[in-house]
Formats: sequence, C-alpha cells, structure tokens
Amino acid sequence: MKSLCYHDRRKRLLLVVLSLSLLNSFWIINFYISILSISSSQDVYVKPLTRLIYNLSFLNDTQDFRLLVNLSNFSFVMNNKRCDSISELFMVVFVHSAPKHYHNRQTIRQTWGQETNLVNDPFRVVFLIGKAQDQSVQLALEEENHIHRDIIQGNFIDSYRNLTYKYVMGLKWVTYFCRHVKYVFKTDDDIFVNIFQLVKYLKDSFGTTPTGGLVVCYLIKKPFVKRSQRSKWHVSFTEYPWKYYPPYCSGWAVLMSPDVIFSLYIQSSRVPYFWVDDVHVSGTLVKKLGVSHVDLTDTMTINRADIARWLGSNVSNLPPFFGHPDVDRETIYALWTKTLLYYNIIETHW
Ligand SMILES: *[C@@H]1O[C@H](CO)[C@@H](O)[C@H](O)[C@H]1NC(C)=O
Ligand SMILES: *[C@@H]1O[C@H](CO)[C@@H](O)[C@H](O)[C@H]1NC(C)=O
Ligand SMILES: *[C@@H]1O[C@H](CO)[C@@H](O)[C@H](O)[C@H]1NC(C)=O
Ligand SMILES: *[C@@H]1O[C@H](CO)[C@@H](O)[C@H](O)[C@H]1NC(C)=O
Ligand SMILES: *[C@@H]1O[C@H](CO)[C@@H](O)[C@H](O)[C@H]1NC(C)=O
Ligand SMILES: *[C@@H]1O[C@H](CO)[C@@H](O)[C@H](O)[C@H]1NC(C)=O
Repeated sequence: MKSLCYHDRRKRLLLVVLSLSLLNSFWIINFYISILSISSSQDVYVKPLTRLIYNLSFLNDTQDFRLLVNLSNFSFVMNNKRCDSISELFMVVFVHSAPKHYHNRQTIRQTWGQETNLVNDPFRVVFLIGKAQDQSVQLALEEENHIHRDIIQGNFIDSYRNLTYKYVMGLKWVTYFCRHVKYVFKTDDDIFVNIFQLVKYLKDSFGTTPTGGLVVCYLIKKPFVKRSQRSKWHVSFTEYPWKYYPPYCSGWAVLMSPDVIFSLYIQSSRVPYFWVDDVHVSGTLVKKLGVSHVDLTDTMTINRADIARWLGSNVSNLPPFFGHPDVDRETIYALWTKTLLYYNIIETHW
C-alpha cells in the first residue's frame, strides 16, 4: 500500500498542482483525495463477497426495540439520530467510549472525527457509552451531549464485562437509525485514524457502494483463550470451553458493510451472551454468518516504531493509516497536524 502510493505520487502531485490555482485551501484535501481515488481505481485489493440475505421486519416489532442480547428492558438513555439529515451518507463511525473519557472524545472531535474533514464523502461519528454509575459523571455526560449531540448511551452499566452489550448496541443503532449508510467503521476512543486514507482505501478496494459481506480488520488468526487468573481477559472453562476462539478482529479498527451489521444484529439475540466483545461479535457471530474476514495486516501493518519514525520524518512521507492502539492524546494531535500538513503539502510548496 505504502509503496504503491509512493510510486504514483509524482504524477498525482503534478495533477493537483495544475488544478490548484482555482482552489482555496479548504478544498484542497477533498480534491486531492478524489484525484487519488480516480488515478488508482484499478488497484482492487480484495474481491468483495455477495450481499447477505436478511429480513428487517422486526423493525416494526416494539419488543425487538427493547431487546439487547438477553436484556429485555433495554433503552437508549441518549440517542442522536445523526444520520437522518443526510441521504448520501458514505460512512458512519461508532466509537466505543467510557463515561469518563471526555478528553478522548474531545480529541477525536477536534481531529479526525470532525465531520467537515470530508466534504464529498460525508461521514458521521457517534460515541457508544453505557450507564455511568457515578451520578456526577452522568450529569457531565448530559452536558457534553447537549453541546455535541453525538453520544449514544444505553441503560446497561458501563463495565468491561458488559462490553458486548455496547458492541451490539452499535449494531442495533446502525440497524435502526443509520440503515442507508455505505460503510460502517467501528473503533475505540484512543485511536488515530487517517480518515482521508480510509475513505480512499474503501473506494479503491470496494467501490463507492460495497457489494456486501464485508468485514475488514486487523485479524487475530488463531487466538487462544486466556486462562491465567492474572489476565484482565481471563475466561473460565464454563464461560468458554474451547482452547481457541474463532479468528476475530482487533476491536480498534473494523470496517463492515451494512448488510453485515443487520445480520450480526439479528444473530446477536440468538447466540448466548459472551462478554469478550471482539471475540463474540467479530469472531463467533461473523463465523455464524459464514462471512470471511478481509485481513488488513496483509496490506498494511502498523506498529509503534513506524508511527514514531513517521512523526520524526519530513512531511513528504505518506501518513500511517491508523495509529497504534493505546496511543496518547498528544500523539493523536501530533499525527493529525502532520497528516493535514501532508495533504496540504502542495500549498506549502506553492
Ligand atoms: C420476514 O419475516 C417475517 C416474520 O418472521 C415474515 O412474516 C416475512 O414473510 C419475512 N419476509 C420475507 C421477505 O422473507
Ligand atoms: C413496517 O411497517 C410499515 C407500515 O406498516 C411498512 O411500510 C414497512 O415496510 C415495514 N418495515 C419493515 C422493515 O418491514
Ligand atoms: C425497565 O427500565 C425502566 C427504565 O429504563 C424502568 O423504569 C423499569 O422499571 C424497568 N422495568 C423492568 C421490568 O425492569
Ligand atoms: C451489566 O449491565 C446489566 C444491566 O445494566 C447489569 O445488571 C449488570 O450488573 C452489568 N454487569 C456488570 C458486570 O457490570
Ligand atoms: C445474560 O447472559 C449472561 C451470560 O450468560 C448472564 O450472565 C446474564 O445474567 C444474563 N442476563 C440476563 C438479564 O438474563
Ligand atoms: C524528505 O525526505 C526524503 C527521504 O526520506 C528526501 O528524499 C527528501 O528530500 C526530503 N524532503 C525535504 C523537503 O526535506
């Protein structure tokens, strides 16, 4: 991926430079991206599968709305129908967050998650949160939501043993409130995303509208079940009797087509709850659908050293697709500032 983009860059840069005289800086990024997409549309990385068959008649069933896996009294404490106002929505991003992570959410809102980043391919970002056990945290969340209108909160307690409820709430929310979207991206609140590269990758690989059956992620291929009592993720034999999990996606970057979301949501109330959310949703449920993962690790690996090297290098090198997981907020700001510089590089040289 990296070398591929690098080779064509001189040609692309020339194209962009020729077009620049009419543009102000606000348009540069989007324009540059659309040029990149056209000039490399022949680079198809993966053959998409066919669309899954699903039946959405449950949407007229009030009982389904109250159901979340095995919770029969589910409700949204906060809901923002962010997708409603826009008919040609390219992507929706649901970000797993925790009640107290205000600063992480602000970082995303101020960097890659700004909806004005992409003018030609509109996207929306929502934050998924469970119920805060501390009343003052809940009040702060309500204030935050009053300002930003981007929090989706469920009435289950926010805790790591309840993370699968959060993931399924994301599936449910997209199914109920954002069905017309082209791509769904699931991530965490401590991740840097090169949103420009992400859109380009999706269009180049799967088109402006995916055929269907897409689950694209950094795949964990033969995951063994952690049994050590010291691990936060340790699982007992009663909870999960087998030695290995099915292959599943690292939770910090999962791309899916909407048909996968609907089908996963339908399965979510038919398969017993298992609390390791990534394993359950992107492993067990995906396997049940018979969908194969597309592994991003083969196309683009990222690691701490690469990220650090890029940050230290001059601005003419292609920014990383994602930051590594658990990146701190200062690094996210630094990565973002430099990413903007990269996409504006023509302007600096002008
Ligand atoms: C969808 O499911 C409902 C209820 O199970 C059923 O009545 C209906 O015929 C199904 N529709 C299709 C197209 O299969
Ligand atoms: C729900 O009901 C309405 C009106 O009865 C109907 O037009 C719509 O197609 C139904 N939706 C689904 C998903 O079955
Ligand atoms: C369901 O939840 C609502 C609040 O979300 C609560 O008022 C009600 O008592 C609950 N009902 C049951 C049966 O748990
Ligand atoms: C998960 O959420 C449910 C519903 O709010 C709650 O009853 C349960 O105690 C929570 N579990 C944990 C481990 O927090
Ligand atoms: C849901 O399933 C989990 C796992 O089996 C269980 O621990 C929990 O008590 C169940 N919750 C309800 C409300 O049935
Ligand atoms: C940036 O670095 C590359 C090699 O990594 C070098 O060829 C290029 O001249 C440098 N550009 C600037 C503006 O320093």
